[in-house]
Amino acid sequence: MEHEPQQGYPSSDTAPDSLLQRVTIRHLREEDLPGLEWDGEFIHFRRLYREIYESTRRGNAIMWVAFLDGVGVIGQLFVQLNSARHELANGESRAYIYGFRIRQNYRRMGLGTRIMAAAERELAQRGFKWVTLNVSRENEEAIRLYRRCGYRIVAREAGRWSYIDHLGKRREVHEPSWRMEKKLDPSG
Ligand SMILES: CC(C)(COP(=O)(O)OP(=O)(O)OC[C@H]1O[C@@H](n2cnc3c(N)ncnc32)[C@H](O)[C@@H]1OP(=O)(O)O)[C@@H](O)C(=O)NCCC(=O)NCCS
Repeated sequence: MEHEPQQGYPSSDTAPDSLLQRVTIRHLREEDLPGLEWDGEFIHFRRLYREIYESTRRGNAIMWVAFLDGVGVIGQLFVQLNSARHELANGESRAYIYGFRIRQNYRRMGLGTRIMAAAERELAQRGFKWVTLNVSRENEEAIRLYRRCGYRIVAREAGRWSYIDHLGKRREVHEPSWRMEKKLDPSG
């Protein structure tokens, strides 16, 4: 028997215009933070998300969400404007995209491309010239999207990083990646 989609969560091969019209691509608000945890799947990133949010308030980051009226956050993309690694972000001409994700049942409707375009447009308007990102070498779907959006592979990244989870425990991540980058169109 076919699995019934949850209320508000359509199957991914149907994207009625009425649904897409109810999606707003906008900056994250503080009250959106719990929605980034996706019903517990990403609870381990709670502290990290809060830190990034604080970073937005200091002007060092931007958090974008795709918000579906009546449902909540169904997608996200973060931008880091400054980094100790200037080849990724330098606060002036180069910014780094990460934390990009669309909820499973809303993929392949163009939302990922829309949220990416919104972030790039804002960066171009702020005078940034380059966007960088890291993507797991195994993530063919994302690499395809990035290539289609004009990104190209420029380096290998070891993809080692760590964070403190919601229980205060350090978690290590190892995800060998490609670094990709794109030159922005100055007209935004
Ligand atoms: C990568 C990711 C964010 C893409 O989001 P998305 O909303 O599915 O992206 P889009 O819908 O814009 O594009 C995906 C595909 O759907 C296609 N598509 C877009 N609109 C469509 C529509 N109306 N009907 C059918 N297909 C459509 C696109 O052409 C694209 O096809 P392709 O893969 O053959 O190039 C999403 O797959 C995801 O969250 N993955 C898990 C997390 C992840 O890997 N993030 C990246 C980390 S670096």
